[in-house]
Amino acid sequence: MAFTFTSLMRIILTRSTKPFRFQSSYTNSLDFATEEDLGLYVHVPFCRKICSFCPYCKVIYDKNLARQYKEALLKEIELVGSQIQFKKEVTSLYFGGGTPALMVNDLKEIIESLKRYFVINQGIGVELHPSDISASTLAELKNAGVTMISVGVQSFHEQSLSTLGRKTLNYEEKFKLIREANFAVVDVDLIFAIPNQTEEILLNDIETAFFLGATQISTYPFIDFTFAKNQYKPLSEKAKKKMLKSISQYCQQTGCVRTAIWTFAKPGTERYSSIIRDSFLGFGVSATTLLKEQFKINTFSLDAYINRLNLNQLPTSLTLEFSRRQRAAYYLFWHAYSMKISLDKFEQFFGISLNKLFDFEFWLCERLGFVKKENEIYYLTEKGAYYFHLIEQKYTNAYIDKMWNISRQIAFPEEIVLK
Ligand SMILES: C[S@@+](CC[C@H](N)C(=O)[O-])C[C@H]1O[C@@H](n2cnc3c(N)ncnc32)[C@H](O)[C@@H]1O
Ligand code: SF4
Repeated sequence: MAFTFTSLMRIILTRSTKPFRFQSSYTNSLDFATEEDLGLYVHVPFCRKICSFCPYCKVIYDKNLARQYKEALLKEIELVGSQIQFKKEVTSLYFGGGTPALMVNDLKEIIESLKRYFVINQGIGVELHPSDISASTLAELKNAGVTMISVGVQSFHEQSLSTLGRKTLNYEEKFKLIREANFAVVDVDLIFAIPNQTEEILLNDIETAFFLGATQISTYPFIDFTFAKNQYKPLSEKAKKKMLKSISQYCQQTGCVRTAIWTFAKPGTERYSSIIRDSFLGFGVSATTLLKEQFKINTFSLDAYINRLNLNQLPTSLTLEFSRRQRAAYYLFWHAYSMKISLDKFEQFFGISLNKLFDFEFWLCERLGFVKKENEIYYLTEKGAYYFHLIEQKYTNAYIDKMWNISRQIAFPEEIVLK
């Protein structure tokens, strides 16, 4: 049997040949009462136009469908929230998509329904497509309590945008409105390794993003999902390596902090980060829920999602019951993505020290120069960050691509096994 890189890594970290097995077993209860560092995520699956490169779960906006979706979403919030008898403290709430601004008039109602069950301590974030930016939308977001925005610019360069199938906009004007609205966090999403993109174009994109008022940039390597309809393929891994190095050097020279493998922020600013949480509850089609012992995925089918909630049932399609080592491997993956792993926090979460579970792995990573230990925290080095960037792409291609591809086609798959 030939092992792929991802299966070998999984076997080493979990010390077992047992794959990640997602099953369709169903329950209407969700036990999150004792979860710490819990975040909330709401998925809005509507877009005005579908971008060929985008793997996320979305459909073309339809007013009637959006109205039914909102009702189902409110029902899901009630079904989940009413499982506990007290208001649960959560870190933050993020709206992603799709294009959440297409439901801007509903966001306040959705946020208020969440606030009946949760106390949101660290702010509310929303993803924005640049064409959604207008004075009235931004005012509505502020009025609903949104404190952080993430703008999917992808590139300011006309040719790079056109390769991605997008048109350029008047960004000066859009970002003037954003600066006037005064959000605590303004993230700008950029994609690198777009065909014909040079390092100069990329660095110019980063400079422009900060010049226009970004407090943080997220620079994602262009990933060619098997089910995407890309006419052009990403640049080579060698080109990605050079580009990631120049992004990191540029940000270091300009005093930015690397807050994750692909994210750089102005010092002293808060972070926009919907994924780096020890646990989270996801609402909406395709949303995921991560708890101490389980990982759950909602159906990707809008009709199935609405139907389930009309029956007062949670729209879960698949559940993974973690073994302890699987959960620990998952934990390490996302903490490594955020560039640091704290020994104390790990022990608090698992009740066992990191060095007991992964003594050899961390010894090896230190020897290879991937991590450095300071004050009981392992920090990823520049070299470690590059290798993690490779690993992250491999897992995206092997795991996320497979999971999303099947889920796009079958509303409730029997089982998905990730090896
Ligand atoms: C949910 S998407 C976009 C949010 C918003 N609808 C927009 O278009 O701006 C979040 C981000 O994922 C990134 N992304 C999407 N597809 C990608 C791909 N194939 N490769 C790399 N990054 C991608 C983009 O930077 C995008 O802004
Ligand atoms: S990139 Fe944004 S606008 Fe384009 S299809 Fe994906 S979610 Fe929709």
